[in-house]
Amino acid sequence: MTTASAIGQPLDRVDGRHKVSGGAHYSADIQLDGLAYAVIVGARVASGRITGFDTTEALEAVGVVKILTHENLPKIATQPPLIPSLAGMPAPGQTFFPMQDGTIYYEGQPVAVVVADTLERAQAAAALVRVAYEETPSVTTLAQGRDQAYEPKAIFGGFVPGRNQRGDVEAGLAQADVRVDATYTYAANNHNPIEPSATTAAWDEDQLTLWDATQGVASTQLTVAALLGLTPSKVRVISHFVGGSFGCKAMIWAHPALAALAARETGRPIKLSLTREQMFTSVGHREEQEQHLTLGASSDGRLTALRHHKLSPTSHFDEWAEPSLGVAGQIYGCPNYEGVYRLFRANTMTPTFMRAPGEATGMYALECAMDDLAHQLGIDPIELRLRNYTDTDPGTGNPWSSSGLKECYERGAGRFGWERRNPEPRSHRDGNWLIGYGMATAAYPVYGPNNPQRARARLYSDGTAVIQAATPDFGTGVATVMTQVAADALGIPVERCRFEGGDTTLPTIAAAVGSSGAGMISAAVHTAATNLRDQLVAQATADSQSPLHGADPSTVVVQDGRMTLRDQPNVGESYAELLHRNFLPDVEAGGAWSPSPQNTNNYAMMTFGAQFAEVAVDPDLGVIRVRRMVGAFAPGRVLNSKTAESQLMGGMLWGMSQALLEANFMDPRRGRWVASSLGEYLVPVNADAPEVEVELVEVDDQIVNPLGVKGVGEVGQVGAAAAIANAIHHATGRRVRKMPITIEDML
Ligand code: MOS
Repeated sequence: MTTASAIGQPLDRVDGRHKVSGGAHYSADIQLDGLAYAVIVGARVASGRITGFDTTEALEAVGVVKILTHENLPKIATQPPLIPSLAGMPAPGQTFFPMQDGTIYYEGQPVAVVVADTLERAQAAAALVRVAYEETPSVTTLAQGRDQAYEPKAIFGGFVPGRNQRGDVEAGLAQADVRVDATYTYAANNHNPIEPSATTAAWDEDQLTLWDATQGVASTQLTVAALLGLTPSKVRVISHFVGGSFGCKAMIWAHPALAALAARETGRPIKLSLTREQMFTSVGHREEQEQHLTLGASSDGRLTALRHHKLSPTSHFDEWAEPSLGVAGQIYGCPNYEGVYRLFRANTMTPTFMRAPGEATGMYALECAMDDLAHQLGIDPIELRLRNYTDTDPGTGNPWSSSGLKECYERGAGRFGWERRNPEPRSHRDGNWLIGYGMATAAYPVYGPNNPQRARARLYSDGTAVIQAATPDFGTGVATVMTQVAADALGIPVERCRFEGGDTTLPTIAAAVGSSGAGMISAAVHTAATNLRDQLVAQATADSQSPLHGADPSTVVVQDGRMTLRDQPNVGESYAELLHRNFLPDVEAGGAWSPSPQNTNNYAMMTFGAQFAEVAVDPDLGVIRVRRMVGAFAPGRVLNSKTAESQLMGGMLWGMSQALLEANFMDPRRGRWVASSLGEYLVPVNADAPEVEVELVEVDDQIVNPLGVKGVGEVGQVGAAAAIANAIHHATGRRVRKMPITIEDML
């Protein structure tokens, strides 16, 4: 054993200096000899077909190397299968690959790729490509598609059934004393992390190297290999740094393969970056949606029925909806439940994962309905949730691997000052401002990978160690926390440990999606580092020249790089002494971890939390200000309190953004997004950001993975928007059932 000391510490990011000084190279920063630049030309219509290209002018433009269209681009080798990247397999974001023929399914769909010797020349030439279309009517909005809606067998790449039921929802409603029946709408959201998606591609004979902004290097590798008909070993993917992803870099869209094809066709390394505008049409989005909820409850507030229907547009090729009905159907102990997805075909690309994909939207609707129920019954909102608390997943009957939810309510409420809340709407004022307090439950599933997660640990004779795993640092602080995990498992100080990742030549890790990164990567790193420590201890106890010779390895502890007998701390030697004496420059061990099927089958795994918000509403101007947010979360074990708090805080602020600002709409006449820049798509700036407090409630979880890590990536967003909507109701007495809530809704 070792004495843990690094895990949990608020260690600064090991790559922080690198990042702020420009030393960290992102996928679009790669410089190569002979590099050329590719620019995608997107379709200007949402539906129809291409009748012809005129590239004469573009081809004559200065610096142009090549223009690719469906007329000269080699066909892809296989039709992309839609498999969410959590499966660790090829993970195209949609089964459609562009530029195979002239059919147009959505605005922005790639129709040409222009390659030139500089970025500016490629952009200028791209603007000169003329495309003629035969346009057909498009369907892009709920209003247009509602009548064609149908119930799919499954959604989310086939992983989630289209309908889920338990008990008898009609009977549950019949026995209810009170009901809430309401429709909630949620505007589409677009992805726009600081770093737009980008790929640099280079061929060396038949070997392809891609520097790609991705959540999983293996996902890019396997997807591009399949599309190009290559064996995976011929595709190396490097992704050391990712400037935020949040789901838009989870699935692999067309651009990495297009970059590889352009590089092959031109014989030059290619850099292809999506523009800000293209980020709105190229990497999926959170779909516009409407949710209809019916709650039935007894007069003492116990849920007797929950009916949850969702309607949303999907693409022409895939049946995708974010699983908004998932957590919302599991969080309370309601015996009678019905969840149904309905889809209609629209002229959009396939929607995708977007932070807390489904959980954020589904819990927004449910938690607003619960607030209405509390108000109707005259029960405190926290008390109502406690009355419906469940120790087991009501769908399967399996117990939670760990919970902490009640403590989150209690500690969150305490820190927020919930007891000061007078339940009567419009009862709190600050001058002219109406003040409201709202809360909501947060929960996010603990996803495990389907396949083994691997890492490798190597100790050098100077006592330093390197730990390797293929994962990129996707912006969360992976390299930092994995250094902490490895240091503790090896029994060395964290400064003597270094993490290397982001390369398919390293041991394979699945894409970091679904908040699974910290849990699965720490499990692999912990296993590899523990194997290495065990190997070193075994070698010492077997070495006739070691002071530990003959000792039972289980009695040896390691601290500060020194192996000693637990009961006789003065008997022992350092790793460095052992290696030097045996002429070993280094010692290495691998490790693999996969979730135990027994645990997966017998436990339900969820990260819980509670959100609180205070808003101020100006009754004359309709201005809404969020004054404070407090979130209490129980993410199992915290690997680094600073990075964990930052993640949760980011999620909460994103929830505020969804509640009050973020929205994109399709122009129904042209089938185009109305907002296509960060000038039109609103996100909060520092002046909008309230005081955000995060309370970490550590719970012991022996089931999820070796270190009991449940993840903090997404739960911070779940419930945040609902807490704000509920606070607005409390402030004003007005229940707004749409996201975002804007000034107009207050007037
Ligand atoms: Mo997350 S939306 O699974 O990257």
